[in-house]
Amino acid sequence: MNAKPDWDAAQYLRFEDERTRPPADLLARVPLSDPKRCIDLGCGPGNSTELVAARFPDAVNQGLDSSPDMLEKARKRLPDLSFILGDVNTWSDAAGYDVIFANALLQWLPDHAALFPRLAGSLTPGGCLAVQMPNNLNEPSHVAMREVAADGPWAEKLANAKAERATIGSFGDYRSWLVDAGCRVDIWQTTYVHALANLEAIAEWFKSTGLKPYKVLLRFPRLFIVAVREG
Ligand SMILES: C[S@@+](CC[C@H](N)C(=O)[O-])C[C@H]1O[C@@H](n2cnc3c(N)ncnc32)[C@H](O)[C@@H]1O
Repeated sequence: MNAKPDWDAAQYLRFEDERTRPPADLLARVPLSDPKRCIDLGCGPGNSTELVAARFPDAVNQGLDSSPDMLEKARKRLPDLSFILGDVNTWSDAAGYDVIFANALLQWLPDHAALFPRLAGSLTPGGCLAVQMPNNLNEPSHVAMREVAADGPWAEKLANAKAERATIGSFGDYRSWLVDAGCRVDIWQTTYVHALANLEAIAEWFKSTGLKPYKVLLRFPRLFIVAVREG
């Protein structure tokens, strides 16, 4: 069996401006002024961590990611912050964080019904879990990926690739999982419309994310969730 491919930070950063807009929009809705401990889960090359650290410069800011390549880039970019190699599938923190930021990560992780309450359980009272997930599995880009993957001599080899992404729940699912975990919740969805140079640029965009397991105006719906643990 082939090992899972590592993430490619250089490819991911080719669309840095576009990719950094959702975390900026997410962070703007975090209703805290003086958090002490913040962590950026799935921090990637540090672009989202940089935003969190700039908003909360007096906090202890950390990043966590499972990709050594991403962490290397993040450490070079933000040498004063601490970056941890770890897997969010098993991560929790008993002491609690005031801000748990997870931009463009949780769509890769399974079992959101268990995952979201577990993450909320790692918040301090009054702490905030801020999540953004691409909600684009039914967009033409991803429908085409699945069709091409299923039709050709590669079909058998790629049969499990589509299982890599979690099914995104309904707005109501996230609301009830998080309210039951003791949070008040703000949920919204935005469709960004990116003007890219050509059709090839769409393939380039997804090479470092959705097309990774398979080795062209782009609609990109993203689901945002901000949950504050009741104090
Ligand atoms: C799409 S990137 C997001 C990077 C950054 N947060 C941003 O806003 O651009 C997803 C990141 O999640 C990391 N990742 C994927 N699965 C993970 C897991 N189970 N635990 C920790 N990190 C994971 C990948 O290595 C990658 O760096």
